[in-house]
Amino acid sequence: MLPCRMLVVGLLYCCIKAGVKTTKQALFPAASRLKRGAAAVDNLTFHNSLNDVNLLFEILLAGTHFETSGEFLVHDAELASLRKTRNLEVICEEIIPRNLTDIITLISNLSNHAGHLHPEDFERTLLTLVFTAQQMVNGNKQQREMWAESFVSLYKAIKQDLTGEN
Ligand SMILES: *[C@@H]1O[C@H](CO)[C@@H](O)[C@H](O)[C@H]1NC(C)=O
Ligand SMILES: *[C@@H]1O[C@H](CO)[C@@H](O)[C@H](O)[C@H]1NC(C)=O
Ligand SMILES: *[C@@H]1O[C@H](CO)[C@@H](O)[C@H](O)[C@H]1NC(C)=O
Repeated sequence: MLPCRMLVVGLLYCCIKAGVKTTKQALFPAASRLKRGAAAVDNLTFHNSLNDVNLLFEILLAGTHFETSGEFLVHDAELASLRKTRNLEVICEEIIPRNLTDIITLISNLSNHAGHLHPEDFERTLLTLVFTAQQMVNGNKQQREMWAESFVSLYKAIKQDLTGEN
C-alpha cells in the first residue's frame, strides 16, 4: 500500500500548489491525439478539487486493475458507476503510456522538463506510477526489475517536481 499512500500525498500537494507557475509540454502525446478525435470526454483532468482527490483515494483503496487488454477496472461497482470515474478510465486507458518503451520516453522527457509540471501532466505521471506499481508484481524477474527501475524514476520525477530537489 506504500505506492498508494505516496500517490495520495503527492496529489494533495498537487492541489495545494495550484497557482505555481507551470509549463505545459506534450509529455503525453496520446492526449493530443485524443483531443483531436471526437472523444466523448468533456474534461481530461480527473482532479479539480479536494473532493476529487478524496474520490481517487477511495477508488485506489477499493482496488483497480490495468488489464492487458487495455481496460482499466475499478473494482467497486458503486464507485465505477460514477460519471467522474469515467474520466479516470479514459485517462488510464487512452492517455498514459502502458509499455516500457513509451514509459522510458516519458521518463526521459520528464528529466528534460523545465519548470513545474502542469497539474494535468502531474496527474498523468502519478497514474503512470500506479500502473508501473502494478507491473512490478507481474512478469518474470527481469521484467520486474525493469518496471521497478521505471517506478523509481517516475517517483523521483514527481518528488523533484514537488520539492525542487533531486
Ligand atoms: C520526448 O522524447 C522523445 C525521444 O526521447 C522526443 O522525440 C520527443 O520530442 C520528446 N518530447 C518532448 C515533449 O520533449
Ligand atoms: C475541467 O473542469 C474544471 C471544473 O470542473 C475546470 O475548472 C477546468 O477548467 C476544466 N478543464 C478543461 C480543460 O476544460
Ligand atoms: C507502446 O504503446 C504505444 C501506444 O499504445 C504504441 O504505439 C507502441 O507501438 C507500443 N510499443 C511497443 C514496443 O509495444
